[in-house]
Amino acid sequence: MPRTLIAPSILSADFATLGAEVSAIAAAGADMIHIDVMDGHFVPNLTIGPAVIKALRPYATLPFDVHLMIAPVDPMISAFRDAGADIITAHPEAGPHLHRTLQAIKASGARAGVSLNPGTPIEAIDNVLDLVDLILIMSVNPGFGGQSFIESQLAKIEAARARIDRTGRDIILEVDGGITPETARRAVSAGATALVAGTAVFKDGPARYGANIAALRGA
Ligand code: DX5
Ligand code: ZN
Repeated sequence: MPRTLIAPSILSADFATLGAEVSAIAAAGADMIHIDVMDGHFVPNLTIGPAVIKALRPYATLPFDVHLMIAPVDPMISAFRDAGADIITAHPEAGPHLHRTLQAIKASGARAGVSLNPGTPIEAIDNVLDLVDLILIMSVNPGFGGQSFIESQLAKIEAARARIDRTGRDIILEVDGGITPETARRAVSAGATALVAGTAVFKDGPARYGANIAALRGA
């Protein structure tokens, strides 16, 4: 089995030294940099936009895994691609036309992801799988770091795994929210191939990033 990809969410990083934080998690063994973009409208929090992503781009060569929690999402896709996003993930509710949104992401040259909130059924991806490079299962309601893993999402991870296997394509199955070594183990058992983690990676400061990432990967 290929090793689990770890995508630290910089939402839990020190925003006053974000460039150094990105370099530090890259050096500590991260596989992707997960960037949570929130608009204070689609989700009840406001974070960063394309200008910050562009400023961070020189600090790591790793893929930038950009999770857009913004609506409407389509008008902003090219700005995030131009800023340096390698993977752009959108929510079905934010398009509002998911197929068109994924087409636009692919047309931008980025890899395309679709993210399902805890309350969004797995069937939401059934008619767009051919356009998808990544499925992001939210194991918390989007908006904030530091929440607890929602158990009911394990069945959705399994359902996504079955769908991916049927395609025969190498679609990344990523899980986001409340990931600890314990929930990491369960998410991977359910079929996840990538884990987003904010709190669990950034806790206890830069000297611990390597050990924190290793603990998730080995779980
Ligand atoms: C929540 C974000 C997550 C979040 C994860 O809306 O999408 O990426 O930062 O944070 P933890 O790992 O602390 O749950
Ligand atoms: Zn996220």
